[in-house]
Amino acid sequence: MLTGERVRLRAMEKGDLPAYVRWFNDPEVRRNLKIVQPLSLGQEEQWYADILKKPVEEQPLCIEVMQDDEWVLIGNLGFMAIDQHDRSAELGIAIGEKQFWGQGLGTESLLLLVKHGFENLNLNRIYLHVYETNPRAVRSYEKAGFSVDGRLRQVRYLEGRYVDVFLMSILKEEWNIDYKNEGKG
Ligand SMILES: CC(C)(COP(=O)(O)OP(=O)(O)OC[C@H]1O[C@@H](n2cnc3c(N)ncnc32)[C@H](O)[C@@H]1OP(=O)(O)O)[C@@H](O)C(=O)NCCC(=O)NCCS
Repeated sequence: MLTGERVRLRAMEKGDLPAYVRWFNDPEVRRNLKIVQPLSLGQEEQWYADILKKPVEEQPLCIEVMQDDEWVLIGNLGFMAIDQHDRSAELGIAIGEKQFWGQGLGTESLLLLVKHGFENLNLNRIYLHVYETNPRAVRSYEKAGFSVDGRLRQVRYLEGRYVDVFLMSILKEEWNIDYKNEGKG
């Protein structure tokens, strides 16, 4: 468990899958992610079975927030494509419960995961891709210490047009200077 001020990150369980299906079938959530088709529980179960074969460091973590004395599942995040030689990894995040957007919970979750990546997994660079149409996410990543490496032109076909994608990253040396002592982790 990775615990912050308001959120905690825990390992994912099979019982979380129905919530995932609900989130990723919501067009407002899905338009920010690389999911284009409506999703079934069976497809998510297959995805979960495949995920369990990956290294444990690449398995998604669930974001939970305390509500009325109970931890409530609101989203997930995690690392993908951990490169053992370069010590880099790609990060992904989605808060599926939309009523929790815009309250700083995404940024807090990112800070916890980045701390975990640098201090426990010995990563040196954490990067991500975000659509130009998603300013909330860009701002949240900036608040968590990421900066834009570059703009990848017309990478994504979304709602009838091609959109650019920002490549963003944070380095361990930047983390050490600016963020190391933030959050409980
Ligand atoms: C992206 C996401 C993780 C961010 O988490 P969050 O808890 O909503 O974000 P935070 O509250 O921590 O920060 C959001 C920031 O964006 C700002 N923001 C919101 N809408 C904005 C907009 N249209 N333009 C510019 N900034 C915006 C907020 O004001 C806030 O910045 P501030 O604290 O300086 O005021 C979450 O919204 C989410 O999961 N969205 C759906 C899936 C998704 O987009 N995933 C990321 C794919 S790359």
